Amino acid sequence: MRYQDTKISLFPVGAKQAFHLLRPLPARLPKRAKHDKTVLSPLRKLLSFAKLMMFIAVILILPSQTCFAEGVAEPVCIQCHSKLPEKYSKPVELWRGSIHAENGIFCNGCHGGDPKDAAVAMDPAHGFLGVPKETAIPAFCGRCHVGVMKDYLKSAHGRMLGKGGPTCVTCHSNHHVVKATLDLISEKNCSRCHSFERAGLIQGAMKETETMIISIDGRIGSLKKIGADTDKLEKELFAARNSFHSMFHNVNVELFKKESAQITADLKKIKAALDRKDAANQKRKIAGVAVVLFLLLIAVVLHLFKKTYD
Ligand code: HEC
Ligand code: HEC
Ligand code: HEC
Ligand code: HEC
Ligand code: HEC
Repeated sequence: MRYQDTKISLFPVGAKQAFHLLRPLPARLPKRAKHDKTVLSPLRKLLSFAKLMMFIAVILILPSQTCFAEGVAEPVCIQCHSKLPEKYSKPVELWRGSIHAENGIFCNGCHGGDPKDAAVAMDPAHGFLGVPKETAIPAFCGRCHVGVMKDYLKSAHGRMLGKGGPTCVTCHSNHHVVKATLDLISEKNCSRCHSFERAGLIQGAMKETETMIISIDGRIGSLKKIGADTDKLEKELFAARNSFHSMFHNVNVELFKKESAQITADLKKIKAALDRKDAANQKRKIAGVAVVLFLLLIAVVLHLFKKTYD
């Protein structure tokens, strides 16, 4: 699936072997032969020359192999569509700036088809799905985003699919899909079909939780920098963040209140653990200063003691 994988061949076996061949010859010869210089010398020169030629040949072949690997990286869909009129080339341009392009999901990841053979690329017999109808879009995206699709289909939005409810592309677009953030919830995006009131409630609560997550993340980061063991806290935050980000598609204010109460409780627990760690560090610091002061005091006393008896 991931065409980028073909780039692994950038450093072919041939190059490794060539470097091996360049190692000084005597080191690899049987010991007895090494002493027999008269017989070996011309032969050795000839061998070294042949190996040098082989090495040069490998170096010359390398660049063309690299080009080949990069050529394979882009499916035929992109090569052909880039040259087509606007309606058919625009998707390529939009897709290039998407999170899907970044993660190696090409045209055929969504539309199906054969990414290697231009002649049959758009043949349904080769898995080409074409352009999905509006009601087919959730399943189209949901092949990969299974959890999101399930939440969406159960939601007020999913239940109104094909009857005025938004689909995945209403909110995320089709080709310029970028990393999802709470900025998607806005007056502009969410008041096209109904009032912003309920959307605003969700937005407010989510922003609050998001701020909490960012602050905790920062504190864990600083603790990590001074060498503290933060593995457990990191895992807990990761879990809380995951359930937080999978909440939105329900668009159910009641469910939302319940779930976000649970997540907030989990986050508060992490925060309390951080407070304890910080307090312990503070105590350790104070103890450290006290020890230093005590040692200084002893030194001064000893010094005075010595002086009086000198
Ligand atoms: C050799 C050129 C060529 C290749 C290769 C190619 N396409 Fe197309 N594609 C076209 C042309 C021309 C059209 C517009 C006419 C048509 O629908 O057949 C098109 C149309 C489309 C459409 C819109 C179809 C519709 O019903 O409106 C999609 C989606 C699409 N291509 C996806 C792909 C995908 C995915 C691949 C690779 C697996 C691919 N194409 C490979 C030339 C190509
Ligand atoms: C993330 C999934 C996804 C990827 C990746 C993707 N498409 Fe699409 N594409 C869609 C969806 C969904 C539609 C239908 C959109 C709609 O109805 O709003 C669509 C529609 C199209 C159309 C019909 C014209 C249009 O803009 O509505 C063409 C042509 C097309 N895609 C070509 C491509 C090409 C070429 C690529 C690769 C550069 C590509 N798509 C990559 C999801 C995708
Ligand atoms: C072939 C599998 C595949 C299909 C089909 C697909 N995606 Fe994705 N999508 C991915 C991958 C892989 C990522 C990047 C990793 C991640 O964040 O999950 C991603 C990321 C995303 C993100 C960003 C997630 C984040 O973390 O912020 C959104 C939003 C998204 N996709 C929406 C869509 C939409 C909308 C469609 C349909 C038009 C779609 N995807 C179709 C595989 C797919
Ligand atoms: C394409 C139209 C459309 C867009 C855009 C849209 N919605 Fe909706 N929304 C609906 C429909 C239809 C319903 C179901 C009928 C209703 O409750 O009004 C709904 C219901 C809701 C509900 C009530 C759910 C419940 O269970 O009571 C919330 C909350 C909501 N939408 C939030 C949002 C948010 C947030 C956005 C923006 C990110 C948004 N909507 C964008 C059409 C839309
Ligand atoms: C009403 C607008 C709306 C609709 C419809 C919608 N999304 Fe989203 N999506 C969002 C918002 C807003 C977020 C960001 C939530 C957050 O940051 O917690 C999001 C987040 C995501 C993410 C990232 C989730 C994560 O765990 O980080 C993915 C993937 C995604 N959506 C895919 C889809 C797919 C697939 C569909 C269709 C089945 C869909 N979305 C339908 C608005 C929408």
